[in-house]
Amino acid sequence: MRSADVRAELGKFVLPTRGGWAKPLVLYQNYWLNPERLEHIIPVKKHFKPRRDDIILATYPKCGTTWLKALSFAITTRSGHAPAAGGHPLLTGRDPQKPKDAFVSWWHFVNNMHKGSSPIKFDDALSMFCEGFSPFGPFWEHCLEYWRQRLARPEQILFLKYEEIVSEPVEAVKMLAGFFAVPFTEEEEMRVVPEEVVRLCSFQMLSGLEHNQTGDVARGDSIVVGKSMFFRKGKVGDWENQMSKEMGKKLDDVIVRQAQGVWSCI
Ligand code: A3P
Repeated sequence: MRSADVRAELGKFVLPTRGGWAKPLVLYQNYWLNPERLEHIIPVKKHFKPRRDDIILATYPKCGTTWLKALSFAITTRSGHAPAAGGHPLLTGRDPQKPKDAFVSWWHFVNNMHKGSSPIKFDDALSMFCEGFSPFGPFWEHCLEYWRQRLARPEQILFLKYEEIVSEPVEAVKMLAGFFAVPFTEEEEMRVVPEEVVRLCSFQMLSGLEHNQTGDVARGDSIVVGKSMFFRKGKVGDWENQMSKEMGKKLDDVIVRQAQGVWSCI
C-alpha cells in the first residue's frame, strides 16, 4: 500500500484531532497517534502476516522495550553467541514501571525528542495522560488489550512487567527462554548462562556502550531521537523524584478506574 493510497483512505474519515503534545495527534480506533506514523501503521495492520515462529514485543512506549529486546535477542541467539563471551553482538553493536514510572520516562523522552520547541509542562502532560490523551495512548488500553489476549491465548502471549524483570531478572530470563521454546538446559544453568544473559543486558552494561550513546535512531524536521535517549535511569520508583504523592494517587486512581476492576489481576 503506497503512502498516497493510505492518505487517500484516511482522507475519507474525519479523525478527531487534538494538540497539546509536541505535535497534534489523531484518534484512530481508540488510540491517539501521530498522523505521520498512522500512515505506516495502516498498511502494516492490513498486510502483516505473522509467521508461527515470529516473536513480537509489544509495549506502551517507555515500559522497557529496549531491555526486553536485548534479553530476547541474547536468549534466542545464545547457541551462536555465548552471553559471557567478549564480542557479543549486543556489545559490539554489529547485529542487530508501574505506569507512573512509564509516564515520567515518557515525559522526559518527549521533551528530549523535541528539544527545539518549548517543553511540555509536567502538570499539563500529567493531566492529558490521565485523560487518556498521550501519544499512542490511552496507556491503560494497551495493558488491557495485552491482558485480555493473554487470558484468551496463554500459550501464545506472555504478559510481563518491567518491575517483574527488575525484581527477579534471572527467573524472568528463564521464563522468557521457556516461552520462546528454547529453555535453558541443566548444563546451561550449571554454567550460569541465565545469569550471564542478565549481566550482558543490564542497564550498566548496555547504557555505557559507545554505539548506544552516539547517533540517532530517527531524525525529522523538528524531531531527534538519539540512541542515548533509550537509556535514562532504568529505576523502578523514579516517579517519586518527579511527582508529589497526590499526583501519584491521581494517576493510580485513574488507571484503576479505567481498567474496570481488571487492574488488580494485572
Ligand atoms: P527511564 O526513563 O525510567 O530510565 P523503552 O525501551 O520502552 O523506551 O523504555 C525505556 C525505559 O527503560 C527507560 O526508563 C530506560 O532507562 C529503561 N531501560 C533501558 N534499557 C534498560 C536495561 N538494560 N535495563 C533496565 N532498564 C532499561
